[in-house]
Amino acid sequence: MLIRPRRLRKNQKIRDLVRETTLTKNDLIMPIFVDENLKGNEKREINSMPNQYRFSVEGAIEEAKNIADLGIPAIILFGIPKYKDEIASSAYDKNGVVQRTIRGIKEELGDELLVIADCCLCEYTSHGHCGIVKNGKILNDATLPILAKIALSYAESGVDIVAPSDMMDGRVRVIRESLEENGYDDVAIMSYSAKYASSFYGPFREAAESAPKFGDRKSYQMDIGNSREALKEIALDIEEGADMILIKPALSYLDIIRLAKDNFNVPIGGYSVSGEYAMVEAAAKNGWLDKDKVIYEILLSIKRAGADFIITYWAKYAAEKLL
Ligand code: PBG
Repeated sequence: MLIRPRRLRKNQKIRDLVRETTLTKNDLIMPIFVDENLKGNEKREINSMPNQYRFSVEGAIEEAKNIADLGIPAIILFGIPKYKDEIASSAYDKNGVVQRTIRGIKEELGDELLVIADCCLCEYTSHGHCGIVKNGKILNDATLPILAKIALSYAESGVDIVAPSDMMDGRVRVIRESLEENGYDDVAIMSYSAKYASSFYGPFREAAESAPKFGDRKSYQMDIGNSREALKEIALDIEEGADMILIKPALSYLDIIRLAKDNFNVPIGGYSVSGEYAMVEAAAKNGWLDKDKVIYEILLSIKRAGADFIITYWAKYAAEKLL
C-alpha cells in the first residue's frame, strides 16, 4: 500500500492542525537605535535598512509605546553616543543615551514592555572595537570591568535584561557578580554566546556607527566555520550565569540553533541580523521576492530550528501585518 503523507496536506485546516511550529508576537524582540545627536521628533532612516530608524531619546520612548501597543513583549536598545573615547566612558554614564531611554520607557510603561540593553563597547569607542585596545590588540581582561560597569548602570536605570555582545571571555561571570553584589539579582543576562565574525553585520555598523577603524573582529567573535566551538561558548556562558543565550546571525546558522537546542536547557534566541534584513528588503523592492511570505518563512524557520524567541528588525512589521 502506498504511504500517503499528502493526506495531511489536503487543505488549510488540516495543514493548520498538524503544523509543528508556530510564530506568534510573543516570540519577537524589536531592536531600537537611540541616537544622542538627535532631538525631539527627529528620526533618521538607516540607508541600508529601509524603514528602520535612529530615534532621539524621546522618539525611542514613543516608539517603545507603539511596539508595546502592538503586543510585542520586548525591545533591545542600541545607543549611539555623542562622545566616544578609548574606554567607552559614555557607555556607563548615568546620563548616557541608553540609560536615559531605559528610565523613560520604564516610567511610561513599567512592566508592559521588557527592556533589554545590548551591552558592548563598540558603539562607544573611538576605534570601534568591542574591547580595550593596546598596541593594536583587543585586550580581554582589561575590558571585563568596563562591561560590568555598563551592565550595572543599565540595571540601575531599570533594565530587565542585559545582553553582552562583546565576546570577551569571562564577561558573563563579572556581569553576574556585579549585578548580585549590587542587589540586582533579578536582572537577567541574555548572552550572545555564539556570535560569529560575520559579514552580515554591515548595515548595523552603519546604523550604529560602530565599524572598527582598523582590523576586524575575528580575534574575539567566532570563526564562521565552527560549530563545536559554539557548544563550548554556550556551556561557559551558562556556567557563568547566563539565563538565556543567543545565536547570531540566525539564518546562516540555523544548524547552530538546532545544536544549542539539542544540548542545553535554557531559552535560546536567534538574532536575525541587519544583513539578513537588508537582503530581503532589497530583493523585495525589486519585486524579486514576495516580501511578506519570505519574512514569515524566515522567522518560522528560525523557530523550527529551535529558537524560543527571535530578535528581528521585522518584529513590528510582522506584528502589524503578518501575525
Ligand atoms: C555590537 C553588536 C553588533 C550587532 C549587535 N550588537 C555589531 C557587531 O558585532 O559588529 C550586529 C547586529 C546586526 O547586524 O543586526 N557588538
